[in-house]
This record gives sequence, structure tokens and C-alpha cells, in this order.
Amino acid sequence: MKKGLFITMEGPDGAGKSTQLEFIKSFLEEKGEKAIFTREPGGTPISEKIRKIILDKNSSDMVPMTEALLYAAARAQLVSQVIKPALERGKIVVCDRFVDSSIVYQGYGRGLGESVNVINDYAVAGCIPDITFLMKLAPNLGKNRIKTENKDRIESENSDFHENVYRGYIELEKRYPDRIVTIDAKGSIEEVSREIGVKLERILKNRNDFQ
Ligand code: TYD
Repeated sequence: MKKGLFITMEGPDGAGKSTQLEFIKSFLEEKGEKAIFTREPGGTPISEKIRKIILDKNSSDMVPMTEALLYAAARAQLVSQVIKPALERGKIVVCDRFVDSSIVYQGYGRGLGESVNVINDYAVAGCIPDITFLMKLAPNLGKNRIKTENKDRIESENSDFHENVYRGYIELEKRYPDRIVTIDAKGSIEEVSREIGVKLERILKNRNDFQ
């Protein structure tokens, strides 16, 4: 049986993650790979309920630690119900956001720092991505891609918050150069897809060579 492969997709709001996830889906289908796609916060009935609480614009008085713990709680459920079992069956799992989002949004954005790592060590129980695509886009560019009326509680944060999130991603890129594969998200949809396709092809080849 093939070894499981855990891929996560990261990036600031408005970087075009959702569009490129659709590309990854069709790319893997064409290769005959039956991957499992999931998202954070969410992906299980309990985690989707937690998602509603976190992103609700009426939760404006939520303190940062509550927010961090709720993301971690949703994650613990997703890891144990979906991600871990699928990896154990040798599947490819593609997750829209994962722990890195908590590290940058709650750790850097909300200023909770290292405590976010500690909480999440419990939540993921050793389940760490093999590859993380980081859609890199400066916050002033991402901002223009999201319609104001569609913004959730996190997206509605001020520009300092989003600057700190971006700074967090740059730090992670330096800290985990083997795991994090940076994608320049400035280009057109086709250009960005092409770059992801080339890199994904290489990742799949490596996986097959080492089975
Ligand atoms: P979502 O609608 O999924 O946004 P996107 O399409 O940008 O992924 O909303 C998720 C929001 O939650 C997004 O603004 C990032 C934020 N977030 C955190 O702050 N911490 C986390 O751990 C995760 C997973 C997401």
C-alpha cells in the first residue's frame, strides 16, 4: 500500500487558495489519484458547528485565546475523524488551511505567540503536513480581491492584523524550507496553476519513486 501524503494549502485572505484548490482537485483526478479534500475550520459536523461560532460577525467580543482554542478544537476533531484515518489508508489528503494558519493568524495576528504551538501540539497529535503550498501575496494586494460585504469576522480585521499575518507566513517559510513550497500568487489564475502543477508533479514523482 502507498504511504499517505498530507498536503496543506496556506496563504493570506484573498490569495486565491480556493480557485487553486479546484485546480489541484482536477490535476489529481487526471493523474488517477483519489485524494480526499477537506477544509479548516470545518470538515466534520462538529468542526463545522465550531466554524460558525468562530467566523460569526456577532462574535465580536471573542477573546483571542478562545478563538485559538476553538480553531484547535475543530482541528482535533478533523484530525482524528478524517485526516489520520485517511493517511493510515495510504490516501492523499489535501486540507485548505491547517496549523500554520493558527500560528500566523492567532500567534502573529492576535499576538498569542508560542502558546498557539503548544495548544496545537495536542490538537494534531503528531499529524504534520508533508507538503504545504504557501500562496504568497502581499496583504495590500489580497485585500482588493475580497468583496467587503462577503467578509467574515477574521477577514474584516484591520490592515495591521493582516500585515502581521503576512509577516508570520514569511517567518514560517524560513523556519520550514523543506515542507513549505512557496507559490507566487501575484500572477494570473493560469500562471499560478501552472506553477502549482509543476511542483505537484515533482512531489508525486518523489512519492512514487520512494514506494
Ligand atoms: P475561510 O472562509 O475558510 O477563508 P479562506 O477562504 O481565506 O480560507 O475562513 C477561514 C478564516 O479563518 C480565514 O480568514 C483564516 C482564519 N483562520 C484562522 O484565523 N486560524 C486558523 O487556524 C484557521 C484554520 C483559519
